[in-house]
Amino acid sequence: MNSTDSFIAELRQIVGETHVLTEGDLSAWEMDWRKRERGHALAVVRPASTQQVADVVKACAAAGVSLVPQGGNTGMVVGSTPDASGRQIVLSLTRMNQVRALDAANLTITVDAGCVLQAVQETCEAAGLLFPLSMASEGSCTIGGNLGTNAGGTQVVRYGNTRELCLGLEVVTAQGEIWSGLTGLRKDNTGYDLRHLMIGSEGTLGVITAATMKLYPLPVSQLTAFAAVPTLEAAVQLLGLAHQHLGAGLTGFEVMGRFALSLVTKHFPQIRVPFQANVAPTLPAGRGSLPPKGAVPCLGRPGATAGYPYCVVLENSDQESETHARERFELLLEVALNDGCVLDAVVAENMAQARQLWHVRESIPLAQAQEGLNIKHDISIAVSRIPEFVEQTDALLEQTYPGMRLVNYGHLGDGNLHYNVQAPEHCDAEQFLKEQEHGVNALVYDQVDRFNGSISAEHGIGSLKREKLAEHKSPVALHMMRAIKQALDPHNILNPGRVFRL
Ligand code: FAD
Ligand code: MLT
Ligand code: ZN
Repeated sequence: MNSTDSFIAELRQIVGETHVLTEGDLSAWEMDWRKRERGHALAVVRPASTQQVADVVKACAAAGVSLVPQGGNTGMVVGSTPDASGRQIVLSLTRMNQVRALDAANLTITVDAGCVLQAVQETCEAAGLLFPLSMASEGSCTIGGNLGTNAGGTQVVRYGNTRELCLGLEVVTAQGEIWSGLTGLRKDNTGYDLRHLMIGSEGTLGVITAATMKLYPLPVSQLTAFAAVPTLEAAVQLLGLAHQHLGAGLTGFEVMGRFALSLVTKHFPQIRVPFQANVAPTLPAGRGSLPPKGAVPCLGRPGATAGYPYCVVLENSDQESETHARERFELLLEVALNDGCVLDAVVAENMAQARQLWHVRESIPLAQAQEGLNIKHDISIAVSRIPEFVEQTDALLEQTYPGMRLVNYGHLGDGNLHYNVQAPEHCDAEQFLKEQEHGVNALVYDQVDRFNGSISAEHGIGSLKREKLAEHKSPVALHMMRAIKQALDPHNILNPGRVFRL
């Protein structure tokens, strides 16, 4: 038996024969969600307990084999798939999917890292509680992956990123030791906060095996609107009004550009996108009105426009009764219509309609993937400066790459845009990316620097943005990050080559 065979045999002993995969179609673990890169794993290893994770990490450390922690493999930056060497193992956490405890009085839930986000949401809802982390990948992504990336999603404006929702972690270190930090404490100043080091470290500092997450009471009322705005400035103005009128009730504020919405209509014709079917506004700016109560507002106004440059989905969640909340929500939209920052709006009458409106927004990444390979950006800029950033950068891109198509959407409430570039129509997307991705990224990220923004708001760095991080992060910050990595993982066995190279 050679050393690789005996290593695989050891892994099989730890997790069971059938949970070490070395043959057959491993593309689900080896290919990233965006199909940017396909790696090759020595094995896919599927532990069922924290002790098994610790034993696998010890075996890897002894054999000098590096490992890539993986949850739902929905990451956007090629961070959860192996490299092409065939010498890394994928450590898939999806068999670790148990809820360990739900403490209603402490408003916390403790779950295994491989729990799928939607399953956690549903468990909490069944107990009358809210776990607010939410994103279109929630049917596949895992709590471990959410923590590994410090994922954002659509409720950040009220509840924060995954980091803000985490009260404790259990982690297997690079040495195969288990750190149990599942305290559920809201206050704990006993030295460095290791939890915050692990969150967002993309599997490079430790393997998260469980987490204690914050819960909230379920909202009594939830209202969702889909509003057309004439400009991004108007969208920002509407955001200001929403903060003013809704206060902490504002739970979502997403923006969607015209072309992004047209991709949803093109690739998912069964989805009804409000205001999409027509050509010119029927209502002068500032004179729109809400649909009558009882109408099915999700259909969009007949005769309204596909010409609206941007639309916004906004949501209000409250502990007060729906009647009061609706009055406030509709007043906000009336004021916005009168100010001219909203041209038209529909308000969901019930949760089914609200889900339809959100479904439009959440379908954009999938529609964009159907349209073909693309250059994705996940940037953040101070909200107040976003209109100026977009106006300048749109112009620069159009001038430099005539015909490229801008798919602009994102979490405007958090100052986070997915400012993506799709190849010109009828152009070979793979070729376009090969020839232009570098230049497009340089142009966009230089602009981001000029506006004091970030080149990764919520998706992380992975290997896709690794060289960009080196260019855009301060040398002092990079030095501290490297020092931490070297201290915690001196043999570089945890997801090497992700975030930065040592
Ligand atoms: P994976 O993709 O498996 O892994 C992601 C990273 O975390 C990798 O570096 C991996 O090594 C590390 N990791 C995974 N598990 C662990 C663990 N147990 N311990 C340590 N490290 C680990 N992201 C957002 O932020 N906001 C969005 O709104 C959003 N919407 C999305 C919509 C769609 C349709 C898709 C496909 C993706 C979206 N994403 C979004 C990106 C992605 O879903 C998130 O990054 C998510 O948090 C990844 O979870 P995962 O379980 O799939 O992790
Ligand atoms: C989103 O906001 O839809 C996600 O971050 C995914 C994406 O940008 O593709
Ligand atoms: Zn996003």
